[in-house]
Amino acid sequence: MKISFIGAGNLAWHLAIAFENAGHPVSEVYSRDVDHARRLVSMLYDARLNPDLNFAESSSDLFVLAIPDDAIEEVTARLVLPENAILVHTSGSKPLEVLRRLMDIYSDVPVRTGVFYPLQTFTESTPALSFDDIPLCIEADDPDTEERLVALGQEMSSVVYLVDSQERKVLHLAAVFACNFTNYLLGVAKDLTDAEELEFDLLKPLIEETIRKALDAPHPAQVQTGPARRGDLDTISLHLDFLSDKPELLQVYQLLSDGIQRTVVRTQRS
Ligand SMILES: NC(=O)c1ccc[n+]([C@@H]2O[C@H](COP(=O)([O-])OP(=O)(O)OC[C@H]3O[C@@H](n4cnc5c(N)ncnc54)[C@H](OP(=O)(O)O)[C@@H]3O)[C@@H](O)[C@H]2O)c1
Repeated sequence: MKISFIGAGNLAWHLAIAFENAGHPVSEVYSRDVDHARRLVSMLYDARLNPDLNFAESSSDLFVLAIPDDAIEEVTARLVLPENAILVHTSGSKPLEVLRRLMDIYSDVPVRTGVFYPLQTFTESTPALSFDDIPLCIEADDPDTEERLVALGQEMSSVVYLVDSQERKVLHLAAVFACNFTNYLLGVAKDLTDAEELEFDLLKPLIEETIRKALDAPHPAQVQTGPARRGDLDTISLHLDFLSDKPELLQVYQLLSDGIQRTVVRTQRS
């Protein structure tokens, strides 16, 4: 397949390279900021910059929307695609029918729609990730498109699933807790140690063991430790005192400690 990208950010950086490594050239990249598109183009074999959202003359088969979820509707409404192109978005939470509806309204030619959602975290300009084990969640509005997207996915990854919009929404919500919130909390830990000029590196074996144990356990709650798990209320009070001049962190600490304590009660009951 020949592929074009709309968006050149975190996901596009890794996905475009992965498509090329699987033998599917990226021919065009569009981004709102031309220099941004240029940076991605420079990483690819033979791609060129598309200066606007008019792809009417493109020879690509697949058009990948790699822009923030909230920009999908506005950008798709302005997109001009060639006849019988496949347009996919890469969002965890946008239902497929949003693309279908937009194409029905705005496209003058028939366009097929689908979803190609890689369940991983991507950051632009970091070394290209291998997609071998990255789950690819596929959805399409007709069987032929579904088959083509699954075949493409299987050339990149050994973990390809058909996932409908409702299932994908739940997977994405779970991913926000598992990945985004965990990463935010690691940032909080880094700021706390930095403020006292302590080495964040001291925490790294603990972070690694926490993740390893949680992944190996039947349920992460079963390997929960810490003051909230033990019911060490004096220690919790000390921590809350320490955070008294940081009201946002204090709220986060309290909310998470309450959650852990409720989980302990539930686990004991079951
Ligand atoms: N990052 C991840 O870990 C990840 C994982 C799985 C799925 N996804 C999905 O991938 C999609 C892209 O996410 P991302 O993290 O790659 O986002 P991102 O890095 O923020 O995407 C940036 C790209 O979107 C363009 N853009 C931003 N706002 C825009 C707007 N209002 N109108 C038009 N273009 C706009 C930017 O253009 P300029 O910079 O040129 O202005 C740039 O090309 C999302 O649907 C997301 O759910 C992301």
